Amino acid sequence: MHEILNVNYNNSWCYDIIFHNSYDKLGAELEKLELSNRKVCIVCDSNTSIYLQDVIENTKNHVAFVDSYVFPAGEENKTLDTVKNLYEHLIKAHFDRNDVLFALGGGVVGDLVGYTAATYLRGIRFVQLPTTLLSMVDSSVGGKTGVDFDAYKNMVGAFHQPKCVYMNLATLQTLPAEQFSSGMAEVIKYGYIKEAPFYQWLQDNHDRIMNQEYEIILEMVYRSCLCKKEVVERDPHEKGERALLNLGHTLGHAVEKLMNFKLFHGQCVAIGTVAAIHMSVMRGMLSMEELEEAISVIRSFGLPVGITGLDITEIIAATKNDKKMEAGKIKFILLEKIGNAIIDSTVTDDEMRAALEFIQNK
Ligand code: GLY
Repeated sequence: MHEILNVNYNNSWCYDIIFHNSYDKLGAELEKLELSNRKVCIVCDSNTSIYLQDVIENTKNHVAFVDSYVFPAGEENKTLDTVKNLYEHLIKAHFDRNDVLFALGGGVVGDLVGYTAATYLRGIRFVQLPTTLLSMVDSSVGGKTGVDFDAYKNMVGAFHQPKCVYMNLATLQTLPAEQFSSGMAEVIKYGYIKEAPFYQWLQDNHDRIMNQEYEIILEMVYRSCLCKKEVVERDPHEKGERALLNLGHTLGHAVEKLMNFKLFHGQCVAIGTVAAIHMSVMRGMLSMEELEEAISVIRSFGLPVGITGLDITEIIAATKNDKKMEAGKIKFILLEKIGNAIIDSTVTDDEMRAALEFIQNK
């Protein structure tokens, strides 16, 4: 069984998201992009190169020429230097405006290749082939691309929509457990910000999800992408509602930076989410029971819920450099209730401190 979602902007089709358990249907999707006289460069990192041959086999009969480029895995390589090396590779291989990049990997690969595609020759097409849960349910959909700059996460970037997002869910089986859990932080997020029934569904299906039963994972990834698709269709450039997808991200990014990217992104988002829920409780919007339940749900999916060994003053200072600042104010995402998030620019340092003290050593 495979599923398709269409992402539409301004009521017209923009790209398809394909959910399948192999790369067998990739060729059929590439036919729709009419690449028979175009070159393709499949870009992956040193981890996702294990899928390279499979993707090449399913691509080669549908394009004029298949090239590949592998860079070392790791957030520390999500930089303009890696983009520069990729530009050099593309220039030497004579890639022109009509040729196409494939991003085969997790969030680092997708964001970096998307940014390269957005800027090379003022923009060429690209296809997302996400291989991690986090990139499937979040970063591969919606056209945010970019790289880190001097440890400021995603500081340089562009909106550039993929031409297709093809998810081979079988790749999740080779993910280390911590990385699968990291993706769960972004999945749970959709429950908190938009879909209370989905939050319940995740709890009801906890064991089947953690056992990675295919039909359940398919439904979970599909429902996450449906939620993301609906948000980004209404607000592609984050003028409003799309900011809700940043629940847990302001404090999460600060923790991620202060931990020198030793924690996975989703792990930091989980920590930031618990802090945001604490602030929502302190403002009287959620109950203490809902906070305790959130802590146990987040933990049950293998995610951290607290900070150890970090200085709270430094975390608060790091939030001031987050790119989600607007006119000097941080845009926080709080929960009015489970399934309903709001944007709030009035969160004080004292509220952040209280939340961080609450999660310290948890
Ligand atoms: N990852 C949040 C967004 O795409 O807006």
